[in-house]
Amino acid sequence: MGKLMNKKLGVEILATGSSFPQKVLTNADLEKIVDTNDEWIVSRTGMRQRHIAAPNEATSDVALGAARQAIESAKIQAGEIDLIVVATVTPDMFFPSTACFLQTKLGLKNIPAFDLLAACSGFIYGIGVAKAFIESGMYKTILLVGADCLSKITNWTDRNTCVLFGDGAGAMILRASEEKNAILSVSLGADGSYADLLYMPAGGSFKPASHETVDAFEHTTIMKGKDVFKNAVPKMVKAAEEAIVKSGKKVEDIKLFIPHQANMRIIEAVAKKLSISMDRVFVNIHKTGNISSATTITALDEAIRTGKLQKGDLVVLVAFGGGFTWGGCVIEI
Ligand code: ACO
Repeated sequence: MGKLMNKKLGVEILATGSSFPQKVLTNADLEKIVDTNDEWIVSRTGMRQRHIAAPNEATSDVALGAARQAIESAKIQAGEIDLIVVATVTPDMFFPSTACFLQTKLGLKNIPAFDLLAACSGFIYGIGVAKAFIESGMYKTILLVGADCLSKITNWTDRNTCVLFGDGAGAMILRASEEKNAILSVSLGADGSYADLLYMPAGGSFKPASHETVDAFEHTTIMKGKDVFKNAVPKMVKAAEEAIVKSGKKVEDIKLFIPHQANMRIIEAVAKKLSISMDRVFVNIHKTGNISSATTITALDEAIRTGKLQKGDLVVLVAFGGGFTWGGCVIEI
């Protein structure tokens, strides 16, 4: 322990996991709900299907599957975890936190647990939080989850938004290490002056729930898609570039870029601006849609499980979302 106190602590990524609700909603299914078609959705977004939680399935339920898988892959006991952080914009309830519900579902007690809200950038903000907690020596083994059930805050009569979102969760186990430095850099940013381009306006202290807010669909995601698109590209490029510079690495050193899966056209534009060929960019948007806080971590988990990444590979995660918020990080698998 004395040795541990004297050496600078780094982070080791022990494992990842992911989980999706069973129900799949295809573009053909959406054609029956709103005036849309498969060709429009695929050509404008790249999405073909998304997972949708059951009525009695909450974000913590989906998070539980991801957390269990990560714990199993890490070959640790759940009792070794000493902090739970859940990034989400769709908590089970306003309070208590989804992290507290997850703690109980994992059979844990007394360890700290809290939610973090940075919309689609939430998981990358979470990486920053986990890095700081571990490097300071405050916690040793952290369960970090990105989980969202966007279907629960979707206006299913609005074709502009309802085709875009899905549900799912990803998890990562991070542990203090004297040898490893798996989180090489984190770069975060936000600009609250754009809040009304992508938000859920009612239900909080600003506009408490009322019959009027429900009738006006103000408890659902409201988005000015074109403006979000315009801001997303430069901010994701900036976040990725800053993270790479901070890490001391070069673009060529990065094995795989894992961008937030919001729109295929955004992903392609970001890759082009960073001069990265698409074969080094991981895409699973066709299977998942946009799952906000869960996109980068579920994509990372899939890349690891399908053998696209090996131990020692460097990865850039980069995201942009409501707030606006953005973030990028360089990690070693
Ligand atoms: N099916 C068929 N037609 C549609 C649909 C649909 N599902 N949705 C919109 N349209 C129509 C529009 O009504 C419009 O018709 P009009 O020209 O007759 O008015 C036309 O298609 C074009 O609509 P645009 O909004 O101009 O389409 P655009 O090319 O901008 O694509 C999209 C829209 C996909 C939403 C895009 O702007 C986008 O992806 N924006 C970014 C979204 C994003 O990144 N969100 C990130 C974060 S999400 C989060 O933080 C939770």
